[in-house]
Amino acid sequence: MADVEVLRDAAVLIEGDRVAWVGPRADAPTDASVRSEEITGVLFPGFIDCHTHGVFGAPRLDDHERRALGVDYKAIAAAGGGILQSVRDVRSRPEAELAALTRPRLETLLAHGATTIEVKSGYGLELEAELKQLRVIRRLSEQVPATLIPTFLGAHEVPPEYRNTRADYVQLICEEMIPTVARERLARCCDVFCEPGVFTVPESRQILTAARRHGFALKLHADELEGSGGAELAVELGALSADHLAAISDQGIRALSTSTTVAVLLPATMIFLGRRSQAPGRRLIDAGVAVALATDFNPGTSPTVSLPLVMALGVSQLGLRHAEVVTAATINAAAALGLAADRGQIAAGCVADLVAVAADDWREVAYWMGKDVVSAVWTAGSACPA
Ligand code: NIG
Ligand code: FE
Repeated sequence: MADVEVLRDAAVLIEGDRVAWVGPRADAPTDASVRSEEITGVLFPGFIDCHTHGVFGAPRLDDHERRALGVDYKAIAAAGGGILQSVRDVRSRPEAELAALTRPRLETLLAHGATTIEVKSGYGLELEAELKQLRVIRRLSEQVPATLIPTFLGAHEVPPEYRNTRADYVQLICEEMIPTVARERLARCCDVFCEPGVFTVPESRQILTAARRHGFALKLHADELEGSGGAELAVELGALSADHLAAISDQGIRALSTSTTVAVLLPATMIFLGRRSQAPGRRLIDAGVAVALATDFNPGTSPTVSLPLVMALGVSQLGLRHAEVVTAATINAAAALGLAADRGQIAAGCVADLVAVAADDWREVAYWMGKDVVSAVWTAGSACPA
């Protein structure tokens, strides 16, 4: 992960939506048909935000304030705040209104360099409202010049109407929601919040096994606040990623280290929750695990829109080196979405998603904590509006 190639005085040749050539500027192919553009600063592969909950209604300011007063995330959730607050909100809004709220948020993630953005459902928790969120993602993928990767997260929480009959909700997800989402091709991945008090390991296994049968790639919110063997389950099921991992066990680290499952770490979340612990990023990398970073952009635990901020937190909170956070926010994040074949690098054949950072030294991308360092963005070979 620390092996990042840095070229000085480089040129990138783009043909259509792909990178055709990259190398020293002196060797760049010159031809009358090549239109050239000068860029100052550092050119990175487009950043990939491989974990967001981008479709929601209002921000959750009351939760934020209660936490400041010392109330814990799970206690707030148990009192009807938390995810269920956003569920009531999303259920009540028409699709067009939800799309209008979501669009500028995704555009802001893009302006901070995220050219590919995974977006989860999970604030509907009933068939129609989950489909509504996924349709918003589909609609916005035609309006926002980023690539949006939709993930079905019907198992984000047990909805209140199933509090005492949770097995029925799991059955509804497996037998009705997953088949419908698959039939309408509304999501590429399926995710579950596997956490004590939310979905157990056996329930998560049941849901993800059904999802795999319907052709979904698998992801898992694993060992976020309390460990329960989520990382091991992700490996057992061949998931693309196990995400969060602040409470991962030694056994979980060992399981990931012998797998192709990517560990997606979300340091902004623990910071925003006021937690002192973080996922063992350094230990995961030293054990040979592929680590990615993401914003976890959501109204409850991580309202940040900035992957460069998350990269700075990767250095300061997780003990990663600058080169490692660049790998984590590009090619490894692509791998966490199954897209590493042609995203996350500036290399011939890759999608021409590029980000210019106003800096003299490439390490500044993870240094100016909270500054908007991105000066220009291109997706599929075209400049994005500023
Ligand atoms: O990734 N952990 C579960 N889901 C989100 C939180 C969502 C919310 O609180 O609205 C997370 O932290
Ligand atoms: Fe999340």
